[in-house]
Amino acid sequence: MTEQTPVKDKAATAVTLPDAQTVTSVRHYTDRLFAFRCTRPQSLRFRSGEFVMIGLMGDNGRPLLRAYSIASPSWDEELEFYSIKVPDGPLTSKLQHVQPGDQIILRPKPVGTLVHDALLPGKRLWMFSTGTGFAPFASLLRDPETWEKYDEVVITHTCREVAELTYGREIVEALRDDELIGELVEGKLKYYPTTTREESPKMGRITTLIESGEVFADLGIPPLDPAVDRAMVCGSLAFNLDIKALLEKAGLREGANSDPAEFVVEKAFVGDGV
Ligand code: FAD
Ligand code: A2P
Repeated sequence: MTEQTPVKDKAATAVTLPDAQTVTSVRHYTDRLFAFRCTRPQSLRFRSGEFVMIGLMGDNGRPLLRAYSIASPSWDEELEFYSIKVPDGPLTSKLQHVQPGDQIILRPKPVGTLVHDALLPGKRLWMFSTGTGFAPFASLLRDPETWEKYDEVVITHTCREVAELTYGREIVEALRDDELIGELVEGKLKYYPTTTREESPKMGRITTLIESGEVFADLGIPPLDPAVDRAMVCGSLAFNLDIKALLEKAGLREGANSDPAEFVVEKAFVGDGV
């Protein structure tokens, strides 16, 4: 005789045990941004730059999941995520309160286009990001493959305010002292943070700074050239479209896992009507 599972228990089994991971640390950067680390499923293999679905159990007993770039590199024994706090956001209004020891849900199916495999070999890699779009680059910057593949890596990060640059700046600064890739990074890294709504050493949208040529003059490198430059882009849809137009104007073509080319793009989030 088989027993009928009560409806309540069926909902509880919606999260199978392997999908639950334990939060190990949390750090808040601003009232809009935080990062946390959690355990990594032993079986999870991913390529630096990919994203997974993570979340919490919703009030209705069903998982509430959202796409998140894995911010840690593929060799790290833990996973790191860099997150927005949307005040009324179904997930992040709750996720922003996680503490070490809490459990999150993680679907171990990594995907994404911000991966080395989707680019043809080149000499200089540009990583263009705004806001939490820095997250996939936090992974790629800490991956030795990035430094083995390119002679030069330029990471640009544009935020409204200075404090929103902190997470990215600390990762960039730590690279040089990193046991694993400190030597590889030496002389190859160019970091270009800009703000748009608060005074900082470099102000302006990166798109404007590309159009004016200022970014190339500041960094002492020639304008974009499809024979040399490769690019990865991660920001709002409007940002991605604007950068894409500039890259295409310079002669770079968009690539994909199945058809590698000179640049790749991923949305940092799905925005309001853009
Ligand atoms: P939602 O209902 O999902 O979003 C509400 C509104 O908040 C959106 O319409 C948008 O206007 C705004 N919003 C959502 N996410 C962001 C954001 N990251 N930055 C600025 N505004 C935002 N989010 C992260 O914080 N970190 C990541 O690494 C990340 N990676 C992503 C990768 C992909 C491929 C995609 C598609 C999205 C990613 N997101 C990331 C966004 C994430 O999936 C959720 O939208 C976000 O966590 C908010 O969830 P929510 O349920 O609270 O609000
Ligand atoms: P701005 O302040 O001029 O809008 P957001 O928080 O809205 O996602 O924006 C993050 C950063 O990305 C901000 O500095 C913002 O500049 C910049 N940004 C937004 N849209 C674009 C775009 N289409 N092109 C270039 N930069 C953009």
